[in-house]
Amino acid sequence: MNKFTCVADLGPLDRALAEAADIKRNRFAYTGLGRNRTLLMIFFNSSLRTRLSTQKAAMNLGMNVMVLDVNQGAWKLETERGVIMDGDKAEHLLEAIPVMGSYCDIIGVRSFAGLKDRDEDYEERVISQFIRYSGRPVFSMEAATRHPLQSFADLITIEEFKTKPRPKVVLTWAPHPKALPQAVANSFAEWMNATDYDFVITHPHGYELDPAFTGGARVEYDQRRAFEGADFIYAKNWSAYMAPNYGKVLSTDRDWTVDAAKMALTDNARFMHCLPVRRNMIVTDDVIESERSIVIPEAANREISAQVVIKRMLEGLPH
Ligand code: CP
Repeated sequence: MNKFTCVADLGPLDRALAEAADIKRNRFAYTGLGRNRTLLMIFFNSSLRTRLSTQKAAMNLGMNVMVLDVNQGAWKLETERGVIMDGDKAEHLLEAIPVMGSYCDIIGVRSFAGLKDRDEDYEERVISQFIRYSGRPVFSMEAATRHPLQSFADLITIEEFKTKPRPKVVLTWAPHPKALPQAVANSFAEWMNATDYDFVITHPHGYELDPAFTGGARVEYDQRRAFEGADFIYAKNWSAYMAPNYGKVLSTDRDWTVDAAKMALTDNARFMHCLPVRRNMIVTDDVIESERSIVIPEAANREISAQVVIKRMLEGLPH
């Protein structure tokens, strides 16, 4: 595997899930694979789970790991070609990328959407340049439009907790004070559409996602109706995708907060969120602390999803 940015890069999901289960049974079975190999993790944005789980996954495989926080201690990077670099950015990504590639075997990149220019964000300019110019296998640790390691961990978690072959999975928008990218929601929709689950999306009018990700999924604007009979509630905030409101917060209506009354409409659903989560905006304390909440095992599975991806990349490296 040379790149991992979307569900299609993983191939058949049943095989990937079997591999994840195998790694989870013995996550140290492949420690020889990464010997004398180096993973470089590059962060343009903050992280807790991705940083730790991906580093742990690489260490499980016997790799050396280097972490670069671009905004802390590195030269400020210019990402646009053709810019006269007379400002505060001292280095261009086009030199920085091959230099970074020369120090490692595999690269992970986190670079969020700027939420100012939809075309620029949806072109995925940063991770695309890493794929093109680094000369190394590259995986996304959340890019502008997708968060595939999260979605893979979400899928592993649903498979572990589901009690029926075709569960009803509901992706619900929930309020947040700041504008957030659509990446987690896009990606979750894309991965759920790749399964045969009964997948429903609910959000207020104006929060429609890019149909390239949601495909034929049912959109239900009445959140309570969407929750009826659900087996999994996946909460997430995202800012508006549709023009002319791209990147804007259109609502902070706390009537969309996931609470116990709404969870009571479900079929005893499990509560999921990628974390970090704003309590009593996205979800009430009692729901996230309830025994139906699986946010912690969901986060723990980030180690497993990362390990499957890095293992496959290591297996594809020339000897
Ligand atoms: N879910 C997730 O990606 O968490 P971090 O932003 O903390 O990495």
